[in-house]
Amino acid sequence: TSLEQIVMPLLSWYDGHARVLPWRENTAPYRVWVSEIMLQQTRVEAVKPFFERFMKALPDVSALAACPEDELLKLWEGLGYYNRVRNMQKAAQVIMTEYSGEFPADFEKLLALPGIGSYTAGAISSIAFGIPMPAVDGNVLRVISRVKASYEDVLKQSVKNAMEAEIRELIPKERAGDFNQALIEIGAIVCVPNGKAKCEECPLAFCCRAKAEGIVDELPKKKAK
Ligand code: ADE
Repeated sequence: TSLEQIVMPLLSWYDGHARVLPWRENTAPYRVWVSEIMLQQTRVEAVKPFFERFMKALPDVSALAACPEDELLKLWEGLGYYNRVRNMQKAAQVIMTEYSGEFPADFEKLLALPGIGSYTAGAISSIAFGIPMPAVDGNVLRVISRVKASYEDVLKQSVKNAMEAEIRELIPKERAGDFNQALIEIGAIVCVPNGKAKCEECPLAFCCRAKAEGIVDELPKKKAK
């Protein structure tokens, strides 16, 4: 299939349907980073209050880098997976020493920071800096697997890499961040798992092969690592 045809409908839909979220109002790299790390294991509604409180307590990279550990862990209490925030502080310290406190506007440099994988590096690159790199999370894997009616195992790194490469070619240069967030948003509120997909609301329904074949709920396939 030509995925090219999803780009404009996706962006138009996003313009009219994107949720208003605290980390979308102001897309400074620090805010995008903190929100994406929180969102990795926690739902949007649960993240909101933690995000606001964290931003008030530690408004920038330098505050995070210097925060005493007990205070840091308290701010994270309730979110769990404490290694996330420990790695964030390590990355903040690297940003202070190596980059004078400014996030590098460079995918590879972001990827090299503690706790930042290809998803987070892509999210910061595209949303904060407008760099056309993909940000493929579980939401995006589900949406794309369905549009393509692909039974490939999304738990395989090779499958994920191929999807990243494919999406990278689609990203509109002027709207990289919106494009990535639109894919995430469709996966989060329309193309959802567990038999609850709202295909009648989906701007990609016109070209979705899984919908045409009646196999939406069979995808994505998750077999083994
Ligand atoms: N989940 C992961 N990243 C997200 C984002 N930027 N907006 C909404 N949900 C998300």
